[in-house]
Amino acid sequence: NFSFTLLFCFTAVGVLLALHTVSSNRLVCHMTNWAQYRPSIAKFTPDNIDPFLCTHVIYTMATINSFNQISPVEWNDEQQYNRLNSLKNVNPALKTLLSVGGTVNGMSPFIAMVTKSESRAAFIKSAISFLHTHNFDGLNLAWEYPGHNGGSQEDKERFTLLVMELSKAFEADAKENRKTKLLLSANVAALRPTIDKAYEVSKISLYLDFINVMSYDYHGDWEAATGHNSPLYRSSVDSGSHIHHNINSSVSHWLAQGAPAEKLLLGFPTYGRTYRLRSIATGLGALANGPADAGPYTRTAGFWAYYEICDFISSATVSWISEQEVPYATFGSSWVGYDDKKSYSSKVQWMTANNLGGAHVWSMDMDDFDGSFCSAGAYPLINHLRMSMGFPPKPTTTPSPTTTRDAVVDFCRGRPDGLYENSADKTTYFQCFLGNTYLHRCQPGLIYWDSCKCCNWP
Ligand SMILES: *[C@@H]1O[C@H](CO)[C@@H](O)[C@H](O)[C@H]1NC(C)=O
Repeated sequence: NFSFTLLFCFTAVGVLLALHTVSSNRLVCHMTNWAQYRPSIAKFTPDNIDPFLCTHVIYTMATINSFNQISPVEWNDEQQYNRLNSLKNVNPALKTLLSVGGTVNGMSPFIAMVTKSESRAAFIKSAISFLHTHNFDGLNLAWEYPGHNGGSQEDKERFTLLVMELSKAFEADAKENRKTKLLLSANVAALRPTIDKAYEVSKISLYLDFINVMSYDYHGDWEAATGHNSPLYRSSVDSGSHIHHNINSSVSHWLAQGAPAEKLLLGFPTYGRTYRLRSIATGLGALANGPADAGPYTRTAGFWAYYEICDFISSATVSWISEQEVPYATFGSSWVGYDDKKSYSSKVQWMTANNLGGAHVWSMDMDDFDGSFCSAGAYPLINHLRMSMGFPPKPTTTPSPTTTRDAVVDFCRGRPDGLYENSADKTTYFQCFLGNTYLHRCQPGLIYWDSCKCCNWP
């Protein structure tokens, strides 16, 4: 009877785990190639990425040139692609995608490219070869948005054609070159009128591997009253179309239009949006007049990175908007609506209850990525997200019985990247990467040989 109960427990846990892994199992993190220009400790490059933190990293941003070919933007992009993709030597399960989008002379470069089937074909051909050359696993489309900002009505159908043709070409490429099929994803709008004008939702959903709903920027300093950047639900101060400026409304709409839940990723911002208060009122819906001062590191008025918010809330008054399950903070005439561990937990609960495919984070470089500001370790928000989603602990520095923990942790300090023998236990070996130590185990029966840098028979 006891063993039956035990078996039943294991089965129940197994089923729960299986259910869990089929739904919210993607943690996609965006990084931006302009974060390298932030000053001092806020400077961010692929070398700041923890290779075990996210399941996918999206490198933002590449563009499209006048020959309809995908092309880099920054002087050092190709060097940075190499740094990013070398993280896969440390974590072979990590997937990387290159994001294409932005604007050229104020217009999306997609607008001209999608007009003709020949120019789409040129883009697709260039993208496949570029992704393979630089060892990316896929492409992310970041067009804000088809049919908007100078585009035409036909963009909606042309975007569908682009997505379909990309997917077919990726399939043909995989067969021809005996490679894993390249991934295809897109960053998409969150507001209902924009969604309706930009996408044939059920059609594009067939061809995209996952869909990054940009569930943030719902409110900001362009409005005359305070509102939250990324609320989970509507608030009682919302009226008119503002009742739809929240996650629950956006994702419901994507689902109602025919997107499968398991392809939708919920957007988690690592930043907040700021206002300058106009009166003594400090709550949600208080009168405001433009943004608070720019942050000292992001240096753009209107938003603050989470690490800048950590500094701010050390002296500010923090409040919780219980209707919307998100916090805001105010000090003097500055007001910021942001996300913290608690709001991330609420959103994860909502995300898993709705069987979404997972999370995407905008962006890695705005979390406290090296732990300098928030006294909560490196990547406090994304690590919390990872843990809340039920991912197993990261496989770094596993102590082995014959080696003390400190010796393992310190092994790679000052050593060049590469593989090393573990003299205390030949069935394991060390991999050093950027001074961090990773302990790997050979297949059963094999031991590590430094002569071939491989595991082989004793
Ligand atoms: C969430 O969205 C659904 C579908 O639109 C709606 O029925 C429900 O009332 C919303 N929940 C809240 C708390 O606003």
